[in-house]
Amino acid sequence: MLQSGTKLSIARLLKIIIINLLTITLVLFTVALIRTLSLDRNVGLQLARWEKTRNISLAIDHRQREQQMEKFKEAIRIPTVSFSENENNGTALREFGSFLRKAFPTVFSSKLVHHQLVANYSHLFWVQGSQPDLVPYLLLAHLDVVPASESDGWDAPPFSAKEIDGFIYGRGTIDDKGALMGILQALEYLLMKGYAPRRGFYIALGHDEEARGGKGAVNIARLLKERGVQLSFILDEGLAIVDGVISGLQGPAALIGISEKGWATVKLSATMAPGHSSMPPRETSIGILAAAINRLEENPMPRLFGYGPERQIFEHLAHKFRLPLNFIMSNLWLFSPLLARVLERKPDTNAFVRTTTAVTMFNGGIKENIIPAYAEAFVNLRIHSAQTLQEVLDLIHSTVADQRVKIELIHGFDPLPVSSADERAFGFQIVKKTVLEMFPTVTVAPGVCIGNTDSRHFSDLTRNIYRFAPIWFKPGDPQRFHGINERISKKNYEELVEFYFSLIQNCDIKNVPEAHSSGHEL
Ligand SMILES: *[C@@H]1O[C@H](CO)[C@@H](O)[C@H](O)[C@H]1NC(C)=O
Ligand SMILES: *[C@@H]1O[C@H](CO)[C@@H](O)[C@H](O)[C@H]1NC(C)=O
Ligand SMILES: *[C@@H]1O[C@H](CO)[C@@H](O)[C@H](O)[C@H]1NC(C)=O
Ligand SMILES: [Zn+2]
Repeated sequence: MLQSGTKLSIARLLKIIIINLLTITLVLFTVALIRTLSLDRNVGLQLARWEKTRNISLAIDHRQREQQMEKFKEAIRIPTVSFSENENNGTALREFGSFLRKAFPTVFSSKLVHHQLVANYSHLFWVQGSQPDLVPYLLLAHLDVVPASESDGWDAPPFSAKEIDGFIYGRGTIDDKGALMGILQALEYLLMKGYAPRRGFYIALGHDEEARGGKGAVNIARLLKERGVQLSFILDEGLAIVDGVISGLQGPAALIGISEKGWATVKLSATMAPGHSSMPPRETSIGILAAAINRLEENPMPRLFGYGPERQIFEHLAHKFRLPLNFIMSNLWLFSPLLARVLERKPDTNAFVRTTTAVTMFNGGIKENIIPAYAEAFVNLRIHSAQTLQEVLDLIHSTVADQRVKIELIHGFDPLPVSSADERAFGFQIVKKTVLEMFPTVTVAPGVCIGNTDSRHFSDLTRNIYRFAPIWFKPGDPQRFHGINERISKKNYEELVEFYFSLIQNCDIKNVPEAHSSGHEL
């Protein structure tokens, strides 16, 4: 009796457990499905009542259009190259300063604008607002470019600004002279049309962003800090409008960078007594170091997908994917471990899953018959938002786990804080509104920059840093960035001017409106 009774209750218990599990699964999937169907984040604030601002239209005639394009080409032709941290083209950087004065005479003569040269070549503009109680913002760009050589296979010399099929070719067309010239051209037009902002703003143009910004951006940020400036938000370069670049994503998406990965360059070295190769020790410094490097490659940093801002990013974009991807992406609370395993298979998406580890240099040995006394290797890591530099260093130590290998941090910083992308976030919503006014069919979503920008030097001045310009990235275009045949279409450059022209005006409201109650949150 007792026996069979126990059996019976175990069977019943199992049944209850299974039914419960099924019910829980069903509920989870129903919640997931409702979330999938209800997520169209382009709605929301766009339906709300926005405060009216003076709305100056950008009506320019044919001659002005030609002139604005000529100025842009002239900017590309000045080879403002940053060769390394301590080597730039001072002549070109100085020439660029004179060029700006000539190209934008209204900006440089307006009583509303205060201009200052910083660290010899960088520029800081303050555009005074009529309502000092509105917290100013900062538009950031850089005038230096990475080196380029025609012999790498360019279709046009990289500093020629040659026009081919409606595109301007040249180093700096997308990184970052398009935005730089777009901002100043927009301000030039606005001032010519008698515009005076309500909200004051800064424009900062660094001259060494491609060499870490240690002179330009760092000194500009220091100046602003000394003056006690707090910023409403910063808009810098970074992400773009991607169209056909992300597989599975239907239609174009404007990705606004809300964070940047951190950075660590670590030097590993091993030192042994040198000797003759006829009587070698069991291990040499090269062998010890190679084994350590191998352990780092065999043991990637932990999967952190879903612990950073990935969740809000994918949830914004989910409705633009087909089933089942939209279902999975809008429910990362359930599926992130699964998705992480898919994403980590490709290098470009693996970058979103974890801190990446790249062994970039390895040196050791001086002669074929001498036991090397010393070997060294450099490892470059890009730190995921959910990890700190210190955690990464600790993991390197525990993975290498060999006292004979010396581990030194050469250069590093934590990932940047995650800026808000919610409905109260002034900067994010202003950028989004401006994008949607120009491109109503584009999906606007937050994103994370894999690379770094000058804006990271300004993190003491605001918590709200956004990295975006409405540059269209179509298939093949991401490779042009720092690569060969960097180019922008003439139309896209005109769109950049228009974007900053209306963005500046859109910033003149006091606050973003209250969220339209869309009742989506579950
Ligand atoms: C400005 O006016 C144009 C047309 O006159 C309109 O399409 C646009 O939405 C307006 N922008 C704002 C911010 O009111
Ligand atoms: C530096 O820039 C000047 C133009 O301002 C150019 O003539 C010169 O070739 C550049 N030098 C290098 C090394 O690129
Ligand atoms: C500016 O240039 C001068 C020489 O022309 C140099 O001594 C000084 O260090 C430069 N300043 C910065 C911040 O690079
Ligand atoms: Zn750049």
